[in-house]
Amino acid sequence: MTRHEFQLDAMAAGAPYRLLTALVVPRPIAWVSTLDRDGRANLAPHSFFTVASGNPPIVQFTSVGRKDSLNNIEATGEFVVNLASRSLLEQMNTTAATVAPEVDEFDLASLTKQASTHVRPPRVAESPSALECVLHRVIPVGDSFVVMGRVVAASVDESVLDGDRPMEWLLDPLARLSGSRYVTYGETISLRRPE
Ligand SMILES: Cc1cc2nc3c(=O)[nH]c(=O)nc-3n(C[C@H](O)[C@H](O)[C@H](O)COP(=O)(O)O)c2cc1C
Repeated sequence: MTRHEFQLDAMAAGAPYRLLTALVVPRPIAWVSTLDRDGRANLAPHSFFTVASGNPPIVQFTSVGRKDSLNNIEATGEFVVNLASRSLLEQMNTTAATVAPEVDEFDLASLTKQASTHVRPPRVAESPSALECVLHRVIPVGDSFVVMGRVVAASVDESVLDGDRPMEWLLDPLARLSGSRYVTYGETISLRRPE
């Protein structure tokens, strides 16, 4: 196999970002809802997103640069990660528009606010699941900020549950590839781990 060896230090500004986001795929999308100090809602997708720890339950997303979501979380200490599903693709994309902080992306994308149970930021009613988070820590990393939130409550639509188990094919998750490409739920493989 002949490989191309990329030297990231020698690449033009922006090129390592494009390479990494093309190789680390697919990425789930945290659709982050927050409130500003005055109670105005904000909603934005973040695909630099994963579980940081199961015990305690902590999730993390990365704000590439300083954005409204990060500012609101630092100001209020709370956020909600709504999980984006395929049917919400267009609306999720609409909420990624660069708009003034006072613009409410719920309105922009015609989405419904639903009161959360443990935090003040509202959930996206149309999203089948939401993680209500209290700020754990913000870690500056290069030009970015890793935002960690302790999950204090999870809300899952009963129609996607089998007992208390989420059925991932009904969550119909949406994940990001590079650029403006996405992937949806497809072939799955079940494999036991070795003892
Ligand atoms: C699918 C998708 C994933 C994105 N992932 C991120 C991300 O991980 N980090 C980030 O800073 N911006 C990401 N963006 C861009 C932000 O959503 C965009 O900058 C948005 O305007 C930020 O909103 P805010 O200023 O209200 O926080 C993503 C956009 C899309 C469409």
